[in-house]
Amino acid sequence: MALVSGYHHLTLCTDGVQEDYDFYTTVLGLYSVKRTVLFDGVIPVYHLYYGSRGGEASTIITTFPFRKPAVFGKRGTNQSKIIMQAIPVGAAGYWVDRLNTRGIAAETISRFGITRVAFKHPCGIPHELVESPVDSRPPIVNEAQGVTAEHGIKGIYGAGIAVFDRTSMDDFLTVGLSMKKEGDSDEGLMFSVPNGNGPSSMVEVLHEASGPQGTWTLAGGTIHHLALNTGDEENQLKLKAHLEGLGFTDVSDQKDRNYFKSCYVRSPGGALFEIAWSVEGGWALDEPADKIGTTLVFPPWFENRREELIAGLEPARF
Ligand SMILES: [Fe+2]
Repeated sequence: MALVSGYHHLTLCTDGVQEDYDFYTTVLGLYSVKRTVLFDGVIPVYHLYYGSRGGEASTIITTFPFRKPAVFGKRGTNQSKIIMQAIPVGAAGYWVDRLNTRGIAAETISRFGITRVAFKHPCGIPHELVESPVDSRPPIVNEAQGVTAEHGIKGIYGAGIAVFDRTSMDDFLTVGLSMKKEGDSDEGLMFSVPNGNGPSSMVEVLHEASGPQGTWTLAGGTIHHLALNTGDEENQLKLKAHLEGLGFTDVSDQKDRNYFKSCYVRSPGGALFEIAWSVEGGWALDEPADKIGTTLVFPPWFENRREELIAGLEPARF
C-alpha cells in the first residue's frame, strides 16, 4: 500500500527576493501562500510559499532567496534539476508568448511524448510547464495577472533529477516510495507518484553521466528538495521505518515546519526527498484563512528573534 499521495511541495534556493516573488506571482500567476523565514540555521533568509489561492498541497512551490547572505551553489548532476508544473493541454503556446513578452526566453519542447514549455527562473533554475494529459485539478485562475482557466497552472507536475547512474534510483523510487515506472527511453526514466485518485504527477530521472556534481547545501541557484505528501503522521512514520528497513538509514527525525511536519532522506541519485503532512489548521495557523500569504509571520520559537530577523532580511515589496 502506498504511503504517499502526490507531492506536498517543491523547494528551491533562489537569488533576489523581489525577482523571485515577481516571477511566481506576476509572471506565473500563483498566489502568495505564506511569507516566513528559513527555520534551519541562523542566517535571516525569507521562506516564500506560492501556490493556489487556498494553498492546496500539490500546488506549493517554496523558495529561499539567498542573495543577501550571498550563498550560492552549483547546478550539476546527482542533483534535482528541473521544476515542473502542469498546465492544460493546448496552453503551451500561450505561455511561450507570455514568458517571451516579459523578457524570459521560453520554447516548446517534448520529452516522453509530452509537450512542455522550457524556461528558467531568474536565478537560472530550469522550469517546465507541462501539458499534462491526465490532471483533474482546476487551473489556478489569477484575474489580476490576466491568467484564465484556459491557461492557468494546475499545480506540481513533478521534477527532473539529473543522475550519474540512472539505474541507482530505481529501487529507491519503486521499492522505497511505491512509484511506478511509466517510461524508459534514451530521454531517461519516468516514474508516476502514487496519487490516491488525486492529481497525476511524476519524477523524471535524466542521465547526465559527465559534468560536475551539483551541490546539496542550502545555496542559491539550486533545487533543494522534493516533498511528497503522506497525508498524515501515521503514514509518514511507517514510510520512514520502511525506508530505514531497506537500508536508507539516513532518514531524518521529524522536523516541525509549523504548517506541516517533515522527514528528509537523501536518495541514491543525489536528490533530497522530504515526506510531509499538513497539520490541522495548515496555513491558517497564523493568518486568517482568506488572507494567507499577506503578512510576514514567524513560528512561535522565533518570536524572541523577530526584530533581529526582520532587520537582517533583504528588502522587498510584496
Ligand atoms: Fe520542504
